[in-house]
Amino acid sequence: MKNVSFISLVLGFASLATACKSGINSQTKNPLSVNNLLDTRYKMLLDYPVDSMSMPRSMNIKTNEIRKVPSKDWTSGFFAGNLWQLYRLTGDSKFKEQAEKWTAFSRKESYNKNSHDIGFKVFCSFGEALKVENKKEYEAVIIKGAETLCKRFDPKVGSIRSWDFNKEIWDYPVIIDNMMNLELLFEASKLSGNPKYRNTAIQHANTTLKNQFREDNSCYHVIDYDPVSGKVRKKTTLQGYNDDSVWARGQAWAVYGFTMAYRYTKDEAFIKQAEATALFFMANKNLPEDGIPYWDLKDPSIPNSARDVSAAMVMASALYELYGYTKKDNYLAFADKMMNSVQSKNYILDSNIKAPFLFDHSTGNWPKQDEIDEPIIYADYYFLEALLRKKAL
Ligand code: GLY
Repeated sequence: MKNVSFISLVLGFASLATACKSGINSQTKNPLSVNNLLDTRYKMLLDYPVDSMSMPRSMNIKTNEIRKVPSKDWTSGFFAGNLWQLYRLTGDSKFKEQAEKWTAFSRKESYNKNSHDIGFKVFCSFGEALKVENKKEYEAVIIKGAETLCKRFDPKVGSIRSWDFNKEIWDYPVIIDNMMNLELLFEASKLSGNPKYRNTAIQHANTTLKNQFREDNSCYHVIDYDPVSGKVRKKTTLQGYNDDSVWARGQAWAVYGFTMAYRYTKDEAFIKQAEATALFFMANKNLPEDGIPYWDLKDPSIPNSARDVSAAMVMASALYELYGYTKKDNYLAFADKMMNSVQSKNYILDSNIKAPFLFDHSTGNWPKQDEIDEPIIYADYYFLEALLRKKAL
């Protein structure tokens, strides 16, 4: 396997040029080269103490305090996933040793039916483990997780229910992010031979396709259904600027989710939607020149608004896969642009900050003023996945 420095070199060559054009202000004073900066950050993941209750989620950039979560948090699978992906990128067995320990903490989430996030928690950890080692115990966790996730499916609505909170506001909320959990279902059917999981995923994707998109191919964050009639009650948001805005990460989940659903089904309607939403995003007039979006493309404060590196990395990873199916160069070029932009001193977390994160400038939940313009674990996860996908192309 190639080492990290070489990969950083190949994929980071244009980043300095892009950095000069960025609107991001927090220039680091770090004198290390971009390649060394990333290598330094990779190594810090190994130094983070193993503890099942302290899965790293994000970091308050003002206090340097790391937000640590237990396995029930939706982000809990990403750290293990990052370690597995770094093992695949570097071949360094230290990443694998740590990955095995962190992955074990997510096992019990395959039984947790309290939210739709089983896919994120179980597939980003055990799914990544399975790409490295063909172990029956990893397969069993994925199949159990799929079984649990299917309990949240209502045939009348034709969707998996996303959340159980805010019951006084919503009857049956389904969020665009939920598309990401379908990969667990598709893969579980392949592993078990049981078509139930795959059929559930297809029904969910078809309902989402029908109701979640606008005329311009941007998507709503939340669709609330009437579970009695199965009809749409409300098209709304929780994490966007308002109901009619364009929450950046939501667009990325949509492109990723429908490209992935196409991978398993070859349903042309799915890839058509993925392409339409990708094109909407790529042509948006509020997208900064370096391609790293503001957290919501309709935030009236733009250009004085927070960026979201996580949205960019989810989109970059999705666009590499979309390019693989379509061979349309605009997807490849756009993904490369975003990847080059983040591999710069503008976005890589300063090497003086000791924390298990790679990038600064993601935004988690702006309406709640939670995790604004700071390092968030899933930005790193989709960056590493995008590196691997680019390498595979
Ligand atoms: N629920 C996943 C997200 O915040 O994007």
